[in-house]
Amino acid sequence: MKVLVIHGPNLNLLGMRETDIYGIKSLEEINNAIRSLASELGIDVNILQFNSEGEIIDAIQKHTYDALIINPAAYTHTSIAIRDALLAVGKPSIEVHLSNIYRREEFRRRSFMADVAVGQLSGFGPDSYLLALRAVKNILSKE
Ligand code: DQA
Repeated sequence: MKVLVIHGPNLNLLGMRETDIYGIKSLEEINNAIRSLASELGIDVNILQFNSEGEIIDAIQKHTYDALIINPAAYTHTSIAIRDALLAVGKPSIEVHLSNIYRREEFRRRSFMADVAVGQLSGFGPDSYLLALRAVKNILSKE
């Protein structure tokens, strides 16, 4: 069971960036928690972070995985190209956000990924990723 986790732009600054919204945990700390739960669940996880849209699309296309967990960050609200990549590859994907995008500015309420993902976890801080990992395990176990 191979799962690819992609963090989008500016998430490399977690722990320093708008901590009132995104919390004080660094990306490395979040990744360690993801790796630890993945090993408990018997999931082989590959975690990547990119600031540019093209690199995210390349990663979606070129890696081998059974399911994708993606926090597209600001590209959530703008990127038809990332949406198209998810559709093109056709693997089950889960959209993740640390913050609750529906409780923030109006422009964050639109997600180009939401209706092509299996589901969305938004607003649970780093737990959004861990809940997504558990969801992926259940989805793949049923296949
Ligand atoms: C985010 C929410 C996005 O609106 C924002 O642009 C981000 C992070 C989140 O995880 O809460 O960069 O995806």
